[in-house]
Amino acid sequence: MDLQDVRKNAREQMKGYCRVCPICDGRACAGEVPGMGGLGTAASFKDNVMALAEYKFNMRLVHGVTEPDTSVQILGRTMKIPVLAAPIGGVSFNMGGQISEEAYVTGVLEGCQVHGTLGCTGDGVPPFISETGFSAITRLGGEGIPFIKPWEDKELFEKMDKAGASGASIIGMDIDAAGLITLKKMGRPVSPKPIAKLAEIIKRCPAGFLVKGIMTPDDAKRARDAGAAGIVISNHGGRVLDHTPGTARVLTDVAAAVKGDMAVLADGGVRTGTDVLKMLALGADAVMIGRPVSVAAVGGRKDGVVAYLDQVKEELIQAMVLTGTARADAVGKDILFRK
Ligand SMILES: Cc1cc2nc3c(=O)[nH]c(=O)nc-3n(C[C@H](O)[C@H](O)[C@H](O)COP(=O)(O)O)c2cc1C
Repeated sequence: MDLQDVRKNAREQMKGYCRVCPICDGRACAGEVPGMGGLGTAASFKDNVMALAEYKFNMRLVHGVTEPDTSVQILGRTMKIPVLAAPIGGVSFNMGGQISEEAYVTGVLEGCQVHGTLGCTGDGVPPFISETGFSAITRLGGEGIPFIKPWEDKELFEKMDKAGASGASIIGMDIDAAGLITLKKMGRPVSPKPIAKLAEIIKRCPAGFLVKGIMTPDDAKRARDAGAAGIVISNHGGRVLDHTPGTARVLTDVAAAVKGDMAVLADGGVRTGTDVLKMLALGADAVMIGRPVSVAAVGGRKDGVVAYLDQVKEELIQAMVLTGTARADAVGKDILFRK
């Protein structure tokens, strides 16, 4: 499937929700939450993209790397590419609802499966958002990572049990959704979790636990000490707090605090294979991609996601060869240019 057609299709189907810009950088959709934008001025969303753009590569050609290995071992399995689809929920109120939540989630998960990696599923107030994710993961024999919001106990534990029943070996919590005041307004409180509470949640979790929304070394250490299998360095694509730094700016320090103890993933503004390689050089074991995968899934379902990931993989391989990087699981910081 041609990516141009996928994007054209998505532009029509997401009218009023996403303009499918040449570069998805948060400028055209500032403040559009619900929708695909960033909260407030969208400074956090924009800085995710800007922070990555500020890094440049040292191009190196005198070496023997011609067929780099893009696979990584994380969260107890091999991912053939170091890229996962980020959890995104709410097709009807964020993307225009021209395709169903089920068609969307299935496209994302199956597209990732073709590439030997995993897609994640989201959560929200209407129960069908998480339910659709759990059923799709069940249908795929546990191939997917369901994310749950930091609800209060009853809803949290019910959802965690259902997520466990899907066969998923990893369950995530976007702890930064505590910033989604819309949920509170709808009478469905979400909240930050003190370390003792997080440890209790992780102990009850029937699978490995991934904490998403970590932006400081201290929070990373607390997530590790509470027993998490990994973290996702993320500002929720700039949708929960205006004026946070781009994730690429905090990645090195946060990763260094826990590297080797747990899986370190990062997301925010990753658009291309070169962005993926920059995130790995800054300390991530793997990355998640959000909005561009949504566009690909709405515009072309599974085939659209496969076509987009094909492109990201090709760009990653090209960038690995031209920086002399043989393995995605051992990317040197020295591939990045510093003045
Ligand atoms: C419309 C939309 C819905 C989202 N829903 C969720 C969700 O349900 N759970 C979650 O953990 N993150 C959610 N996110 C955040 C993404 O998982 C991810 O962190 C973010 O999109 C990454 O930035 P990027 O879109 O610039 O790649 C959502 C993001 C968007 C744009």
